[in-house]
Amino acid sequence: MIGGYGDGTRSVRAGLPDPVPGQPFLPGPVLASTYPLDPETGPVPGVDGYGRPDNATRRRLEAALGELEGGGQCLLLASGMAAVSAVLFATLRTGDRVLLPADGYYQTREVARAELSSRGVEVTLAPTAGPYPDFDGVRLVLLETPANPGLDVCDIAELARAAHAAGALVAVDNTTATPLGQRPLDLGADIVLASGTKALTGHSDLLLGYVVTRDPDLLSAVRSWRDTTGAIPGAFDAWLAHRSLATLDIRLARQTENAAAIAAALAVHPTVDSLRWPGLETDVAHAVASKQMRRFPGVVTFTLPSAGAVVRFLKASRLVIAATSFGGLHTTADRRAQWGDDTPEGLVRLSCGIEDTADLVADITSALNAVSA
Ligand SMILES: Cc1ncc(COP(=O)(O)O)c(C=O)c1O
Repeated sequence: MIGGYGDGTRSVRAGLPDPVPGQPFLPGPVLASTYPLDPETGPVPGVDGYGRPDNATRRRLEAALGELEGGGQCLLLASGMAAVSAVLFATLRTGDRVLLPADGYYQTREVARAELSSRGVEVTLAPTAGPYPDFDGVRLVLLETPANPGLDVCDIAELARAAHAAGALVAVDNTTATPLGQRPLDLGADIVLASGTKALTGHSDLLLGYVVTRDPDLLSAVRSWRDTTGAIPGAFDAWLAHRSLATLDIRLARQTENAAAIAAALAVHPTVDSLRWPGLETDVAHAVASKQMRRFPGVVTFTLPSAGAVVRFLKASRLVIAATSFGGLHTTADRRAQWGDDTPEGLVRLSCGIEDTADLVADITSALNAVSA
């Protein structure tokens, strides 16, 4: 029902049943591990029988995310990493080659190192901004754009064309952008996957992942992986996520507004060594991001001179909370090297929340002043 509407309307209505007098807008969570069976027929396709494959609350959120990703079938998973793993393990076999981002979320490389290489899958890494090796013999190209934490961006449509010409599948990790920021399937990707733990749900209270595709064979491979391995989210988390989705448009709008103001302040502060935000006209990723993204992310990445400088910054700030993850209501900052990312010791991924812009700019500026004092 949401074709042709704006992002606010689409966020509010996505996946909801038609209104019924006396019924809630979003029906409550179906908390069931098992359901009564017809004693005569036993299990029947289309009738919920067991909670691992079957849950109406999950299906509603899947309908919502499929709609928001521009049309496609969605499968929810227990976390973003469960979604990454589902795509890797459902598509790759011994002897295959996979191309992964060298500068994307580090746990994706870790799954590949620990679980794919040992099973005879050849893993090749390429930086998000390129150059890319040729795709001959590659079964799957996984792109992450904007990449976490460095915020480099790649041209999804151009890479999808080249990958398809070589017979490779293309999956895009859409975590940082969210479906309102970018629709990879419309740009030629075969699969979208994401962590719903971040801006998509935004309240820092649950973990979630999802995969969306328009290809029935890929859908059935991922469904089979999920339903047999059991990497499903609980119904209550799915319900909370659906409830959070209604405010996605306004949360993202404020986060982007805050990111723009904070990036402008960081750009002129003498303590900041380097700065990345694709929304800045001076950023190297700005042109390609403007071409394919519908809005810029609420995450800004910058570098202070040392790990100690980051500690001083965090202690001096009254509004920026030291925490990992991103996309939540509260502004947080994370020194990525402490998690094992191959980044400078002073690199900070700042996730802009929905606080007042002026309050954040004043607080961050004074905390940076304290670093250099
Ligand atoms: C780009 C990206 N993909 C996947 C994940 C994994 O998500 P989760 O923590 O929900 O497993 C993350 C987590 O930070 C991420 O940033």
